[in-house]
Amino acid sequence: MRWIIASAWPYINAVPHLGTLIQVLSSDVYARYRRKAGDEVIFVSGSDEHGTPIEIEAIKKGVNPRELTNKMHDYVSELFRKFGISYDNYTRTESPTHIEFVKDFYLNVYKNGHIFEREIEQLYCPNDKIFLPDRFVVGTCPYCGYERAHGDQCDRCGRLLNPTDLINPRCAICGAKPIVKRTKHWFFDLPKFSDQLKEYIENNDQLPDNARATSLAMIKDGLKPRSLTRDNKWGIPAPFPGAEGKTIYVWMEAVLGYISAVKEHFDRAGKPDEFEKFWRNKETRSVYFIGKDNIPFHTIIFPALLIASGEGYVLPYNVASTEFLLYEGDKFSKSERRGIWMDEALALLPADYWRFYMIYIRPERKDSNFSWEDFEAKVNDELNDTLGNLIHRVLSFISSKYGGEVPNADLDDESKRMLDEAKELAGKIEANLENFRLRESLRDLLEIARVGNRFFNSREPWRDIKENKERADSTILASFNLLKAIACYMHIFMPFSAEKLWNMMGLQGEPAKFSEAFNIMKGIRIGRIEPLFHKVNKEELIRKLEKIREGKEVLSSME
Ligand code: MF3
Ligand code: ZN
Repeated sequence: MRWIIASAWPYINAVPHLGTLIQVLSSDVYARYRRKAGDEVIFVSGSDEHGTPIEIEAIKKGVNPRELTNKMHDYVSELFRKFGISYDNYTRTESPTHIEFVKDFYLNVYKNGHIFEREIEQLYCPNDKIFLPDRFVVGTCPYCGYERAHGDQCDRCGRLLNPTDLINPRCAICGAKPIVKRTKHWFFDLPKFSDQLKEYIENNDQLPDNARATSLAMIKDGLKPRSLTRDNKWGIPAPFPGAEGKTIYVWMEAVLGYISAVKEHFDRAGKPDEFEKFWRNKETRSVYFIGKDNIPFHTIIFPALLIASGEGYVLPYNVASTEFLLYEGDKFSKSERRGIWMDEALALLPADYWRFYMIYIRPERKDSNFSWEDFEAKVNDELNDTLGNLIHRVLSFISSKYGGEVPNADLDDESKRMLDEAKELAGKIEANLENFRLRESLRDLLEIARVGNRFFNSREPWRDIKENKERADSTILASFNLLKAIACYMHIFMPFSAEKLWNMMGLQGEPAKFSEAFNIMKGIRIGRIEPLFHKVNKEELIRKLEKIREGKEVLSSME
């Protein structure tokens, strides 16, 4: 099976926080899972560089937006690498391949007759002398009454909006009341695709309930043409005849990054045919890991664009959308410094601690909450005690009582039963992953460790080693092979620790594919061992975080 796996492209005006990291981590776990299961995978994302938040940030700082995004793209790419995100291509919307792809794509859709131009009334700031699309304008949502809705979308109810829909609009830069001015824009004829979209969504049984429900409701309400162009300078030039000086609306081009990033990857590798094999192939499955606020762009706009292009691009197999992550019961907020940002997280603890906990609390069916108290509890009780201690006990025993060599013995029935039980749980891990239930699958892994702990305790090899060597041998051989399987499954969640474990166990290369996870190995000479995890103390971490912020050791919000 061939997979295109992607996570939403983060806006690069700030370092992503843990809430955004959830989608990135989820996509990485899934990509690693598919590779381990032996599938063909291309895993992509990139920096979303255009759009009004970045332009506003640059205007406020008095710099060129490109200066800002250059710096942030390098910084964030490096952070993803340090978090172990195994992208095949993490690129950017300013990449020449993307820009060229977007222009060709829209010229094509234009030729297919799905784009029309129209003069419209737009909000305009008389102070700043610019049009106010999207995030350049704030006002009250006509649907839910939220007072800080933006011109493109309400952040509370998720509805797509047009700037003139807003009640009591204000300029986001200076707060002035805008005037209405006429300007010409190009529109994507979205309503044309309503029936096809409805059919696509209804027949896609992968989509999570939240994605299906919101999307069908929007189609039922009636889709409207989506404006494609902007009067902004920062963005990809609109390629339509007569559209000189206009740029393409950020969302309408960033979603095409899923295609252009794959193209760029295979162009670079000198294998342009591979691009066709992935994207123009009904058998390919494409999966997008996103937050729930991005649902309509992925289940409505993106598929409609794919259909409109007439290029035979495959429609999303799944849009794995998650609910929101809260921080100590409240929204993440950059201005109020509420939350944890990726660079701060790494300055506090190694990536695997975060990878573990973020997947452990992944908001799959409802919003979930990051709390320091729970973080401390789960790291100490589950990661350190359940998983870490099992690993350390088994390997220490081999080191001290077996001279570092796994016995060349036979497994007795009880040992075989233990491994069978673990194998059954491993099957559950895979089934849950298959169904995009990442949080359950991680919990299944901990369950395997619990099986191992129970086995080791009840078999008491420290007694047998003197009185019943044969039984001790079986215990140790089984436990060692359980760790080997654990390393294989752990590799998708906590890649750094799993690789370290693999090496400590004296095994070569990387943790094996799932199909080999339970092949019994004997007579191995283990390597140098050390504890994989340690306990954490929340007060200490919070104090350290404050220090980090005072010392500005990290870039975080670029302030
Ligand atoms: N930058 C957007 C956000 O952070 C997500 C863009 S996803 C893509 O909300 F589809 F455009 F790639
Ligand atoms: Zn609203």
